Order: sequence, then structure tokens, then C-alpha cells
Amino acid sequence: MVTRLYDLQPTREKMICWILLLINLTSCVCGTFVVNVTQTSYQAEENNNITLEWTFTTNTHSSLNFLFIYSELITDHKVSVLYNLRDGVEVSESQDDQFKGRVQCDKDVLREGRIRLHVSRLRTEDSGRYRCKVKTTYGDNVGECRLIVTAAADEPKPQRPESPQPESPQPESPQPESRGMIGLYVVLGLTAALLAVCVVFCSASCHCMTKSADKK
Ligand SMILES: *[C@@H]1O[C@H](CO)[C@@H](O)[C@H](O)[C@H]1NC(C)=O
Ligand SMILES: *[C@@H]1O[C@H](CO)[C@@H](O)[C@H](O)[C@H]1NC(C)=O
Repeated sequence: MVTRLYDLQPTREKMICWILLLINLTSCVCGTFVVNVTQTSYQAEENNNITLEWTFTTNTHSSLNFLFIYSELITDHKVSVLYNLRDGVEVSESQDDQFKGRVQCDKDVLREGRIRLHVSRLRTEDSGRYRCKVKTTYGDNVGECRLIVTAAADEPKPQRPESPQPESPQPESPQPESRGMIGLYVVLGLTAALLAVCVVFCSASCHCMTKSADKK
């Protein structure tokens, strides 16, 4: 029985291996290379950052050395290059001035088939369709998403004191004053506590002294 069990295990494993290999082979032959978007549409406010993401089919033998990525922004007026990777090396020269110094690619996840482009300090003119072309030794394809950058609302203004200078010292002055008062109370409290301790200590020692005097 025991030996038969041992015999059974490898054959089952072998069969699983064969099935997996078969699946792999069929997917290699029939499988298509896809470029997906994780999000079809993004919306952000001016000056904020955003991460555009695409995924592509990976291959166990895939190497970053043969990876080609070409990402561009397409608007009604023009086409500008957002990011370009050739044979695993960033080609910053081909990047459009509009995106210079504002795009970062997460290289760590490229191997997993994820293209994460971090675009910082967004401008309204960054709005449009973002097409990403991916080319590997085992296929190529494109994926597209949209980005809408809305103009920043004038939010910082209400946070500042609206009234001009003559009134501004007034709201500021009570704070240090009240702070000083709190400090004074704390000091007074501590002094009182210290005094109380001293009184107790003194009376106790007096008591002791009188007691020892009595003993003598
Ligand atoms: C945007 O990204 C930059 C660096 O790329 C960072 O310094 C900044 O704090 C980010 N801003 C926000 C609002 O996340
Ligand atoms: C692409 O999307 C399809 C459908 O949602 C999914 O089946 C496939 O696994 C995805 N491929 C990649 C590489 O993200």
C-alpha cells in the first residue's frame, strides 16, 4: 500500500506538469499580447499628481532589455510624448518639453507587466487621451486612457484673515496672552503643590523631632 502511494504521487505530479505545460504552450501559440488600462478615465485638479497605469502581458522569459514603451498625449491640437523607454532604457530626449521633469516611471513593477507613470504638478493642458504602446519580443499592442485636469479653485484665499492689517494684530494678541495665563496657572499650581508638600514634610519632621525629644 505504502509503495503504491509513493508510486501514485509522482505520476499525478507528472500529469499536472504536463497539463500546465500544455496550457502554457497553447497560450503561447494562441494567446494574444494585450495592453490594458487599469482605469479608462482619470480626473484630477491642476498642480496635483496622478499615476497613470497600464498592464501588459508578461512572459516568463521576458527581459526588460527588449522592452519598448512609447506613451503619448493626444489632444485635438497636438501629440506630445509623455514617456519613452527603448530596450529598457529611458529616452528622455524624445520626451516633450511639456512633461520634462514631471514624469517618473516605476521601474520596479515593469517586470510584473505594470507601467506606472507618475505625473506631477498637473496642468490643464495635460488633459487628453494617453496612448501607451508596448512592444516586446513576443508581441506588441496599445492601450489608451483619458485624463481631465480641471483648473484649481482659488481655495487658499479664505484661509487667510480677510481683514487688512489694523485688525490683524488683534486676533493674534489674545493667543500669547492666554498662553501666558495658562503658563502662570501652571506655575502657580506647581508652587502650591510644592508648598503643600513642604508643609506636610516640615510638620512630619517637626512631629518626629518633638517625639524624639520626648523620648530623650
Ligand atoms: C507630487 O509629487 C512630488 C514629487 O514627484 C511631491 O514632491 C509632491 O509632494 C507631490 N504632491 C502631492 C500633492 O502629492
Ligand atoms: C487584460 O484584461 C482582460 C479582461 O479584463 C484580462 O482577462 C487580462 O488578464 C488582462 N491582461 C493583463 C495583462 O492585464
